[in-house]
Amino acid sequence: MISVSVRDLTLKFGSLEVLKSLNIDVGEGEFLVLLGPSGCGKSTLLNCIAGLLDVSEGQIHINGRNVTWAEPKDRGIGMVFQSYALYPQMTVEKNLSFGLKVAKVPTEKIKEKVARAAEILQIEALLNRKPAELSGGQRQRVAIGRALVRDVDVFLFDEPLSNLDAKLRSELRVEIKRLHHSLKNTMIYVTHDQIEALTLADRIAIMKGGVIQQLDDPMVIYNRPKNLFVAGFIGSPSMNFFNGELVEEGGQVRFRTNGIGFSLNGYQAEGPLVAGRKVILGMRPEHVFVNEEIAPGSEVHDAVVDLEEPMGADNLLWLKHAGHLMTVRTSGTRRIPRDTPVKLAFDMSVASLFDAETENRI
Ligand SMILES: Nc1ncnc2c1ncn2[C@@H]1O[C@H](COP(=O)(O)OP(=O)(O)O)[C@@H](O)[C@H]1O
Ligand SMILES: [Mg+2]
Repeated sequence: MISVSVRDLTLKFGSLEVLKSLNIDVGEGEFLVLLGPSGCGKSTLLNCIAGLLDVSEGQIHINGRNVTWAEPKDRGIGMVFQSYALYPQMTVEKNLSFGLKVAKVPTEKIKEKVARAAEILQIEALLNRKPAELSGGQRQRVAIGRALVRDVDVFLFDEPLSNLDAKLRSELRVEIKRLHHSLKNTMIYVTHDQIEALTLADRIAIMKGGVIQQLDDPMVIYNRPKNLFVAGFIGSPSMNFFNGELVEEGGQVRFRTNGIGFSLNGYQAEGPLVAGRKVILGMRPEHVFVNEEIAPGSEVHDAVVDLEEPMGADNLLWLKHAGHLMTVRTSGTRRIPRDTPVKLAFDMSVASLFDAETENRI
């Protein structure tokens, strides 16, 4: 069952086309994350779904109803913004109940709903405080609570954690995931943080310039990015890219960069690989193996350690190889000082190849 359906949605601010004929179907109970760099149109899309912006073309359906021109309050949605937008002079309890009072919900019912939201979000002890007496994380919980007390089908979140410090952000991230498990509502969540996207989403829609680049399961996006932009946007440290070409050597098509050839054995191509094509090879740092990590029978290359970045659990090595500098993720217990010569091998079965011109996966 489809919960939110965005159909051929275009939005223009004057002559600037910010959303370009977008299509998305969000399943009932699905957690969809809209991910992309600042300015790509995430908030604009969310605001269209919420009814805070009039669309230029296209339609929005929620639970089978065409709500393209419906008022925000009639769409069955609850929205949580980046800035908490709480009423500073009201207690937490009043902040939570205010909307319901305005909607003339009976007092008993309001009490019930506020108590339940407070319990779910673990803010029962804070009900008599005012926003100024709360931490950032507590305020954001109250803001989520205000969406929670209304019986909505769909929750819309616009970067709800980006004002919080790193530790709180990861704590609340887990709570939002738990919240989704227990409520099972449809959630559409905007972020520019790829970790939030990977950890929370059932599916991720990656946007650039008002266009969806890929809409897929997080692991598919991570492992089989459709184009160079998606490949570079997801993953930290970033995927390594090598400009080169496909060449035929000894009856096999190989990849060559700066005069050095690589076997493409095991590469899962989308179509035939034709020699002569200019391509970009993408390798994630964890798919490059060093010294004793290399499996027997692998094609081995020589490299030199340029720098180590010990990160605790991982040790990030910067290697100089074939005129490139690449990052390689190894275990935190493996230390290799700079200037040490090493052997390396690529796992081509999980590599990505992109056409240098179209930048699409091949
Ligand atoms: N009210 C507006 N008038 C004109 N341009 C706008 C308005 N709101 C946003 N934009 C532009 O639309 C683009 C997308 O903005 P936005 O949806 O806020 O991006 P994101 O949330 O992905 O960072 C940006 O280029 C922004 O400058
Ligand atoms: Mg935004």
